[in-house]
Amino acid sequence: YPGAARWVPTGAGLDELRRAARGCQGCPLYRNATQTVFSSGPPTARIVLVGEQPGDQEDRRGAPFVGPAGNILDRALEEVGIDRAAAYVTNAVKHFKFRQDGPGARRIHQTPDQREITACRPWLAAELAIVDPDIIVALGATAGRALFGPDFRVNRTRGALLPWPAPPHEDAVRVNKFFLATIHPSAVLRADDREAAYQGLVADLRLAAEVLG
Ligand code: URA
Ligand code: SF4
Repeated sequence: YPGAARWVPTGAGLDELRRAARGCQGCPLYRNATQTVFSSGPPTARIVLVGEQPGDQEDRRGAPFVGPAGNILDRALEEVGIDRAAAYVTNAVKHFKFRQDGPGARRIHQTPDQREITACRPWLAAELAIVDPDIIVALGATAGRALFGPDFRVNRTRGALLPWPAPPHEDAVRVNKFFLATIHPSAVLRADDREAAYQGLVADLRLAAEVLG
């Protein structure tokens, strides 16, 4: 895949970035999706939340985390006292990847692979450079892979505040910048014990709330 880099304007602000992302053809996912789903939230946000990719409803409505996973996320953020409207919410991959068994059939989510994550990463990098938050939260494995590389494992990393930028950029660590990984909100919906999974998400997000003070 060519990757998104050639569509990412240099020195752009957030509005220009969002506009440019509408035309991205950096990987094949733009072909079947309805639209590019960029981000929500202000460039002044102190916290960036990174999801996986838009789901069915996000693809239709053009905004991140507005479907069932978004409801879980909203509840958890409210519970720990993080104002979603003041947070910058985005996804590792900006187009919905799905399978559809015949016209009119339900569109079934497919996890983006490493090539698609890598292709889309220039958008995320540009967003992080503009927003420059105090804390970055990876919601699930795909976001973790986008930020840390293919060896990232959510269950090994979740629930601890880590310095950011991450190794191998240790020389660049600024101690007041943090990274936190947690589970994806849809993992709560799929869990055998939903309440326990939800409480785990809340406990992790509480650490982010403490950084924000
Ligand atoms: N899941 C995600 O990872 N992101 C969204 O925007 C919606 C669902
Ligand atoms: Fe571009 Fe990302 Fe969409 Fe691929 S998923 S076309 S890289 S915006």
